[in-house]
Order: sequence, then C-alpha cells, then structure tokens
Amino acid sequence: HRHLLDLSDYSAGDIRLILDTAREFRSVLDRPIKKVPTLQGTTVANMFFEPSTRTKLSFGLAAGRLSAETISFSKSGSSVKKGETLRDTAENILAMKCDMVVIRHSSPGAPHYLSRVTDAVLVNAGDGAHAHPTQALLDVLTMSEHIDTFDGLHVSIIGDITHSRVARSNIQALRTLGAEVTLCGPRTMIPPQIEHLGVHVTHHLDEALDRSDIVMALRIQLERQDEGLFPSLREYHDRFGITTEHMEAHPDLLVMHPGPVNRGVELAHDVVDHERAIILSQVTNGVAVRMAVLYLLAPGRQTDAAE
Ligand code: CP
Repeated sequence: HRHLLDLSDYSAGDIRLILDTAREFRSVLDRPIKKVPTLQGTTVANMFFEPSTRTKLSFGLAAGRLSAETISFSKSGSSVKKGETLRDTAENILAMKCDMVVIRHSSPGAPHYLSRVTDAVLVNAGDGAHAHPTQALLDVLTMSEHIDTFDGLHVSIIGDITHSRVARSNIQALRTLGAEVTLCGPRTMIPPQIEHLGVHVTHHLDEALDRSDIVMALRIQLERQDEGLFPSLREYHDRFGITTEHMEAHPDLLVMHPGPVNRGVELAHDVVDHERAIILSQVTNGVAVRMAVLYLLAPGRQTDAAE
C-alpha cells in the first residue's frame, strides 16, 4: 500500500503485518532511550484541520521516536483563516519537501482527495464521519493483548454510530480479522441498513453486553448533532451508559473508549478508572501503531523496524 486512507482495501494479512510491526515498536517505548534511527531523513507533515489531543500528539511522538522530522499544522492560526484552500495549503507544505502527510479533516474524503492531487504519502488521521484507520488499528492491537484469537471474539460498539468514523474503521478491522460486531445505541444514532456491513444491531444495552467479550463506548459527539441531542445526555446515560453494576454483572468484560470520554455519559465516572477499562493502553498503543504505519509507508525505507 502507498497510503493509509481507510481499511477497506487492507486484508487480514496487511493488518497483521501492521500489528506485528507495532508490537516491535511497542517494546521500544519501554526502553530507557525510546528512539530508533529508522526514519532519519524523512519529514512528516501533521496537518490537523480539526481538534485532536491523542492522534496529533501520538503521530508527532511516533515520528520523533523513529527519528523523522515533523512539521505541525493546525487550522487555527494558519492561513486557512485567510481563505487558503486545502489543496494550496497541502502543496505549499509539500513544497517545503515533506515526504508524508498525516491529515485530520472534518470533510469525509479529504485525505483521498489529497492523495489524488499530490505526490505525498497520505495517512488519514480521521476524516469527518468516514474513517479513522489508525484508531481501529490501535484498538485491535490493544484487544490482541487480552485475547488468543479474533475468530469468534464478540465486540460491541455502543453509542453514536452515525457520526462515528471510529465505529466504521473498527467494523472494517474487526470483521476482516474474524470478530463478531454488535452495534448498540438509540435509533436516532444508528444509520439504517448498517447490517449490510455484517454487524448485528440492537437498541438494548443488556443484549449487547450479554453477547460481548469487549465493549467499546463511543463519545457522544455534541459538535456533530445538527438538531440538538435526542435522547438527552441524561436519558442516554440511563439507557446506554456503562456503570459499575454492568461491570459486576459481566466479570470478564473489558471496556474501551477512543477518547475523549464524556465522564458520566458513555461511561460512569468509576468505570473510566476501572481495572478492566483499558483506555490508557489504547493511548500507549496508539504511538506504537502510528510508528508502524509511518515506518511501513515511508518512501525508500530500508532498515529493520526496531533496529
Ligand atoms: N481518539 C481520538 O482520535 O482522539 P483525539 O480526537 O484526541 O485525537
């Protein structure tokens, strides 16, 4: 693959190669000196047109751990505010001789568009409600640390599926690896006919949890609700929020969340900090997965991964 735009054309073998490479880099992160010379001379442009904490910082760290140089662009404070287009912005950044572009954008398809009109290697860091492939890869890496096989694993994704690029990319990754996926949320937050993706849909949290080894709660995306939130946050928590009672009723259940968490909405406060919540492992694995993706896609790489 030349780019990582979404996971639709990534096979199980492709995903396993990324996970195996990420595991090598994960061990680098535990060394006293957390840096390898692998991408010396490569320049990565991190272009973030939407807010981000985890993805932006971990792509920056991942590039730094690989000894690549980075330039970092945020929409606020840039000449986008003066009307410069996405294409012109990208071409000007690439004219500074960058090899790879990591892009987050509110428009679905923005990374695909840039891959057609520029020569850079493109990595999608989240485009609208379309895809967030490195999030799904870090999620399956984190799951793999707790399971023997994806075959027959049951994962429930709870919440605002309609607006969720995380759900779409996780469905692709999990179905490709052989896991079963259940989507659960209010009818207002689940798109019609999504069963076409090979998932089961329920509007009852207990039904989803009863069939799950792992539950992934999604953030209610207040910024993407066009006509106000229905149900309200309070109603949502009462029907779909995961509580300590759920954790006690399902003693092997693992809880994940891509972040940022609305504490007390998707997850009760105590569930965020529960010993079976593996949310911060997801964040650590995000650095390793992004190292693996940058390494595997870097133009002209020659050396071994974690040398
Ligand atoms: N999970 C995730 O994409 O978080 P950020 O929006 O903070 O990058």
